[in-house]
Formats: sequence, C-alpha cells, structure tokens
Amino acid sequence: MASGLILGIESSCDETAAAVVRRGAETLSNVVASQIATHAPYGGVVPELASREHLRNIVPVVRTALAEAGIPLNDLDAVAVTEGPGLAGALMVGITYAKSLAYALDKPLIAVNHLEGHIHAVLLEQAELAEEPMPLPALALVVSGGHTHLYLARRNGESWRYRNVGRTLDDAAGEAFDKVAKLLGLGYPGGPWIDALAPHGNPKAVPFSFAQIKPKPYRKDPHRDDPASQFLFSFSGIKTAVLRYVQTHDLAASIEARRKALAEIPNPKPSDALPLCDEETLNLIASFQRAVVDDLRRKTFQAAEAFDSASVLVSGGVAANRELRVRFTAEAAERGLPIAFPSLALSTDNAAMVAAAAWPKLLEGETAPAELSAEPSLTLGR
Ligand code: KG4
Ligand code: ZN
Repeated sequence: MASGLILGIESSCDETAAAVVRRGAETLSNVVASQIATHAPYGGVVPELASREHLRNIVPVVRTALAEAGIPLNDLDAVAVTEGPGLAGALMVGITYAKSLAYALDKPLIAVNHLEGHIHAVLLEQAELAEEPMPLPALALVVSGGHTHLYLARRNGESWRYRNVGRTLDDAAGEAFDKVAKLLGLGYPGGPWIDALAPHGNPKAVPFSFAQIKPKPYRKDPHRDDPASQFLFSFSGIKTAVLRYVQTHDLAASIEARRKALAEIPNPKPSDALPLCDEETLNLIASFQRAVVDDLRRKTFQAAEAFDSASVLVSGGVAANRELRVRFTAEAAERGLPIAFPSLALSTDNAAMVAAAAWPKLLEGETAPAELSAEPSLTLGR
C-alpha cells in the first residue's frame, strides 16, 4: 500500500467517471464522460438511457484514466466505487465493473458513499494545494441535483464521521434550478444557465419568500429522533411561485419563442439565451437565484453556529454557482469562519472524489464485501 494508488469509479447519475488518486491527496487523472447531450432533449436524467450510456462508456473511461495517470493496472492498491445513493441501474454498472476488476487483480474493493465523495472533493484539493487542513468539526453543505444535506464532519483517527443535521423535505436545490430553467425555456442542466443569466437581472425585483419551516430546536441529546430534521429545506414552493409568476405575467409566448430559437442553435450556450431574454425574465431569474442562495446560506450558517463548527465547506453541483460562492464567502468572512469550495471541475460528479474518500477507508481496512450491491437510497451519517 506504500504507493496508495486508488482507481475511483463513479456512475451514480449521468456521468461515467474514473480517476486515479494517490493517497487521497494527488490526482493523477480525472476522466468524466458526461451524458448531458443524451438527456438534454428530455430536460432531465432518463434512468434507462443513463444505464445504457454507462455501459457504453465505462471501459473506455477507465482505460483513459489509467493511461492518463500512466499507471498499469497491477500498480493499483485498491479499486473504489460509488455504492449509492443514485439510480439503481446506473450504480450497478460501476459496481459490477469495479467488482470484476478488483477480483481479477486480487486488490481490495472499497465502497464509497457518493455524498461523502462530494465532501472529499474539497479535502482532496486542499491537500493538493498543501493548504492548512480545515479546522474541525466542519459544517458541510452538499448541494446538487439530487441532494441538499447538511453534515457535521469530524475525524476519528484516519476515519471520517458524519452527522446529518439538515435535509430537504422535497426537491433538491439543483432540481429547482433545473426545473425553473426548463420552465423558462432555457437549457439543461439549468444551474449553469441561471448562473450565467442572473447577473443581468435585478435580484430584488421579485420578492420570493420561503415558507418558514421551523427547525426543531437543537438539543444536546444524542438520542433525539431525527437529527436531520433540525435544519429543513424546501424548494418545491419556489418552483411553483415561478410558475405562477409566468402565468400571471403572460410570459408563456416569449418562453416558447426562446425555446424554439435555442432549439435551432447547435449546442446552445447560456450566452445564446441572453439576447432572447427580456428584462422581466432576467429579473425573475436573478430573483429566483438570490432567494435560493440566501436560503441555503442562512440555514448553513445557522447550523454552523448551532453546532459550533470551526469551518464550512460547500460541495456538489450547485456549489459551482458564482453568486453562492460570493455570498457564502462574504458571510464566512464576517463570522471569521474558514470556508472552502471545490474547483468547478470537482463540484459536479467525478471519480477523483470517490478515490479520495476511499483512501482513509483503505488505511482503516474498511473494504467492501464480495456481494456489494447498489444502494440507491444510501444515507450518510446518522
Ligand atoms: O453534483 P452533480 O453533478 O450531480 C448530482 O449529484 O446531482 O450536480 C448537478 C446539479 C444540477 O442540478 C445542476 O443544475 C447543478 O448541479 N449545477 C448548478 C451549477 N452547475 C451545476 N446549479 C447552480 N449553478 C451552477 N453554476
Ligand atoms: Zn453528486
């Protein structure tokens, strides 16, 4: 294990990814085959198509990751794979492949929780930049197309321990970005489109308000029923509010015109949508993004305070959002809390984060059983 080389494999949603990472701290390769083009016409991930694309991509993606790292298969110390949460059929492709590879090479197989992977994307990059490790415990917001979770992360020897202290009651934040973008005739996935268009609008134009969900008061009682209920998010209401705004302001025709115009552009980009959006639409987009970012920010820092966190980290696809980074960074500075985000490439799904999360597990001998199977509803922490 001296070299600590781990091949990570990720196939939980719509990216087939493989990466080689040394000792959880040095990325030798990081290959991602995105299925965006496959799912874009449907405005969301189609599970059957995802499994088919993973099957098509897994062999070349792993081969490329090993070639780019310049690592022969036999030099690997372990194979790590995402066991969940995610789409069952999609997860199965990565797991079956990783299992066969580990078995053929007679190397340990390590199962990684996708959510823990997102957190390790930040830790990996900090190690690479030789930055001071984050003071612990850290309050981690994992915010993506499938998840909006708050965790309190701490270390116990080499292992990491997580406590789930917040979650969404309905849609994930990324899902709200995707649905609102679709509703407004923009491209898929919606996050990067809204991110790019929002600075052109007035974020105070439309006063969106979040339903007040009362968090259960924090009690220092480890036996309370559901610790994840202390900080609750809900993003389905704002999506409905945007729909209502569209209806009451007669935006349907201009949305349809924009959808048609973008459909005629090969590989349309957010910059193509800008001239197709009037001021009212840009204001709506800016106000939506501001409302979501502020809600995430408020609850994340409330949780950081409630649990005496020494730092904050934000990861997952929505962590790529520019306004989110600016507003979280400003609040962290005000509170004197260190904050970290992954680079844009490691914010969305990738396998470097899976290989990095596997390293402490390999050190602790936490290997997966031969009968490892997909866990579509896997949770992280207690
Ligand atoms: O982490 P990820 O790649 O996959 C999941 O585990 O879900 O996250 C994808 C999600 C999508 O909902 C996408 O719209 C959102 O992340 N996203 C963004 C941005 N880039 C990606 N949301 C807001 N702003 C962005 N710049
Ligand atoms: Zn993810």
